[in-house]
Amino acid sequence: MNPIKVLIDCDTGIDDIVALSYALKTPDLEVLGVTTVCGNLPTDITTYNTLNALHLMGRDDIPLARGADRPLERPLQDAAYIHGSNGLGGYEFPEKTSKTPVDQPAWEFLHAKLCEQSEPIDILALAPLTNIALLLQKHPDALARIRRIVFMGGSLRTGNPTPVATFNVLADPEAAKYMIATKVPFVMCSLDCTRGSYLTFEELESTRQFQNPVADMVRQVTGFYITSTKKENTVDGKKKGIDIHDLCTVMYVTHPELFEGESYFADVETKGELTTGFTLVDYEDNLRKPAEDKTVYFLKKVDREAYVRYFLDTLATY
Ligand code: BDR
Ligand code: CA
Repeated sequence: MNPIKVLIDCDTGIDDIVALSYALKTPDLEVLGVTTVCGNLPTDITTYNTLNALHLMGRDDIPLARGADRPLERPLQDAAYIHGSNGLGGYEFPEKTSKTPVDQPAWEFLHAKLCEQSEPIDILALAPLTNIALLLQKHPDALARIRRIVFMGGSLRTGNPTPVATFNVLADPEAAKYMIATKVPFVMCSLDCTRGSYLTFEELESTRQFQNPVADMVRQVTGFYITSTKKENTVDGKKKGIDIHDLCTVMYVTHPELFEGESYFADVETKGELTTGFTLVDYEDNLRKPAEDKTVYFLKKVDREAYVRYFLDTLATY
């Protein structure tokens, strides 16, 4: 089977870099380009981390475009308390890259890449949706060129970091609301799903045998994440391991057979006093929306063991 062509938008970020380690090495994907945005940390840091991640993973051939410095309508509230002040829990790249971003902002780069393709392709959104919303606002023709947005974020009821909102929605709720309203096919890799996709400490420790710098990086960054998510998030803290949310999103594209999901109508709360960033998912069909409005394919569950096996098998090949 031919690899699936994708564009990746990220805010690297601990779970982003782990997701990249899989996405850039699996033979099932052809990554046409990577874009960066503000989210976990400001864009200077997410761009630096992503450029150096490409270098560490031997993929300097993949172009990177830098994106938005702030959400559409509000200031950035980052997640340095989870990812550390350098976004990678203090991890330092063994060698710094000389690679620089392309000379186009992310939304222009994404548009150009989509236009080069004869078929619509997937965009993997591992971050707040600011860049992708700007792409569609500036280039409405991009809608027909996107096969689907596969997004990490959203949930049925619970959230992180608020009781109801997931970070990638909360950081730019206007962008998420706008994206869903465009009716672009939208896969929501929800917190409900990613929280079942944890890696145990033993599984992470087992990567020591691979003796490669990418596996070493994965152990170091997740070591920090274990502590920060335990401290900051009591639900994650009760787990037998840690949730690498963004990795789950990439795995859906390469191995959809591992996932359970269903199509719903969904929307995003942008004005709630207590609930801004909440994804309203019409799970019980209370709103009786017609089928054409049920454009969000909500991922509920993943076969954790198979997912971990695919990830570790790929990490071993560096
Ligand atoms: C998501 O928010 C970010 O902190 C992570 O990188 C991930 O994309 C988890 O809710
Ligand atoms: Ca992310």
